Amino acid sequence: MTTEALLHENRIFPPDPAFVSQANISGMAAYQALCAEARQDANAFWGRLARENLYWHRPFTRVLDESNPPFLKWFEDGLTNASYNCLDRNLQNGNAKKTALIFEADDGTVSRITYQELYHRVCRFANGLKALGVKKGDRVVIYMPMSIEGVVAMQACARIGATHSVVFGGFSAKSLQERIVDVGASALITADEQRRGGKSMPLKVIVDEALALGSCEALKHVIIYQRTGSAIPLLSGRDHWMHDVEANQPDNCEPEWVSAEHPLFVLYTSGSTGKPKGVQHATGGYLLWAALTMKWAFDIKPADIFWCTADIGWVTGHTYIVYGPLAVGATEIVFEGMPTYPDAGRFWDMIARHRVSVFYTAPTAIRSLIKAANAAPATHPGNYDLSCLRLLGSVGEPINPEAWMWYYKNVGGERCPIVDTFWQTETGGHMITPLPGATPLVPGSCSLPLPGIEVAVVDEAGHDVPNGQGGILVVKRPWPAMIRTIWGDPERFKKSYYPDELKGYYLAGDGAIRDKDTGYFTITGRIDDVLNVSGHRMGTMEIESALVSNPLVAEAAVVGRPDDMTGEAIVAYVVLKQARPVGDEAKKIATDLRNWVSKEIGPIAKPKEIRFGDNLPKTRSGKIMRRLLRVIAKGEDVTQDVSTLENPAILQQLKETL
Ligand code: WTA
Repeated sequence: MTTEALLHENRIFPPDPAFVSQANISGMAAYQALCAEARQDANAFWGRLARENLYWHRPFTRVLDESNPPFLKWFEDGLTNASYNCLDRNLQNGNAKKTALIFEADDGTVSRITYQELYHRVCRFANGLKALGVKKGDRVVIYMPMSIEGVVAMQACARIGATHSVVFGGFSAKSLQERIVDVGASALITADEQRRGGKSMPLKVIVDEALALGSCEALKHVIIYQRTGSAIPLLSGRDHWMHDVEANQPDNCEPEWVSAEHPLFVLYTSGSTGKPKGVQHATGGYLLWAALTMKWAFDIKPADIFWCTADIGWVTGHTYIVYGPLAVGATEIVFEGMPTYPDAGRFWDMIARHRVSVFYTAPTAIRSLIKAANAAPATHPGNYDLSCLRLLGSVGEPINPEAWMWYYKNVGGERCPIVDTFWQTETGGHMITPLPGATPLVPGSCSLPLPGIEVAVVDEAGHDVPNGQGGILVVKRPWPAMIRTIWGDPERFKKSYYPDELKGYYLAGDGAIRDKDTGYFTITGRIDDVLNVSGHRMGTMEIESALVSNPLVAEAAVVGRPDDMTGEAIVAYVVLKQARPVGDEAKKIATDLRNWVSKEIGPIAKPKEIRFGDNLPKTRSGKIMRRLLRVIAKGEDVTQDVSTLENPAILQQLKETL
């Protein structure tokens, strides 16, 4: 689990020659040739790939416009459309009758939709949106469960040039409202309810709560996909059923041809300070990278059945469910449920039943399924026929070598390469990852950057540090799928990602170290105040703000501590306005505060642990010493010099857990 263990990993798994011989990037020399091509003339390299991989309604004449850094433009005078690339192109390429999506509901019901059918559904819904007055440049918030309809909603927005902003279905009314307001949405697409683990959970009711919080005047329409059919209140004039919006609409819809720089979507993610930031992605560069990484990292082939288990509410679901697989004409699984329902064999059962060949999931899921398989051997992957798999992927957080080995042996049958893909909401797609037909694998290392991606480990002044020495991960050269700006806050974009001291390099926010011998990268975790809990990004500041908005709370400080199951766990130190509670009272208030955070942000932000103090450890100038709080959260003794602390005695008190 620890970085230490990762750095001493010495098992190496060279690619299987049989895999290499059929791979899209076959062998190290092929990888190096692409890297060399990119280094020699980056614009020619990206221009060639953009022409080969995307349809251009009007070709671009310039690849990259760097005249106003860090606000860069790619393929700007080219006209294209993401939905056209994902759908129409497949009809022309002979994929009309091919299954695009295999949807498996929480209760196991399976439905399939071909490229032809998906095209028609997207067109009808796109026409329906237009009929409601939604047009190019409008923002549409999508708050939907995993469903064919979720994919249709996103693709339909892309088709008419509306910028979508998907909000994960687990976020609270308040989080949803903040995003609706920030992005200035004029329409919202949701469902009556969502199904997970045999239960129904409300969505539309939360939308109503969010809108009741105010400041959403720009929002004119709420469109509801009827998932469960439960009774929900409808506001006449504002609320429309999705099936009514689609009904009687023509089966075709001429795509809106947009500049490659047109914002395809805004996706909110957590930063180290303040409220979540709306990461803005551009149509052309993003889609190019979604398609290319499908071919390169996932080695995708026409016969593959691809399954990415992420939710469309996160970037992984955007790139590797909604855009990438369709842009390359793949067949993919869309799964509504959860890995442990009806039991922890669900993933393995689904892989076997649907003959999944490329499977992409998160380390947290793997770790929880290892635990479940130990507790209930019938759910162990060994009980299922997983011979259909040929490639495995991991994403969202570092994968510890033990989980990697288990995944490799028990799921991949020691036959499937694992691509440990490092990337971020801001990068649009994979950045550092093994290529399955080229890169020798080292458990716990995401290995080497993709061709054209120039990553480095530097010190605080932007100077390269030698291999074997940890530092800050940066990207030295621009790439097409890079974040364009933070929606409505270009200054914050500049400050967050292109700080002056780093000489124009993109600051990823992660620490990294390169191996002395291989040059392989290992990600050592965030270097800012962003936590990674079960692969979900959470800002400590957001959780602190949620806590202090509770009337009982005077002050709060949130830190992460390593957790075997979730990667990191949230620990909150809280000072109440009343005297420090003890015993049952402390337990009760802690429970209330955890529920409060869940209500304010969403269940994923619930602190695992809350500790009460009379105060927080502060320097004489009043700065909270988070470093010490992290040490205490781990249950370790403070060995640092605490003489600069205003109130060193507080440390003893904060060590007490409930
Ligand atoms: C972390 C998810 C180690 C990292 C695609 C990054 C990883 C943050 C990996 C982005 C990986 C993602 N190894 N760490 N393979 N993949 N991360 O924006 O800290 O939700 O900065 O994007 O997840 O999270 P985000």
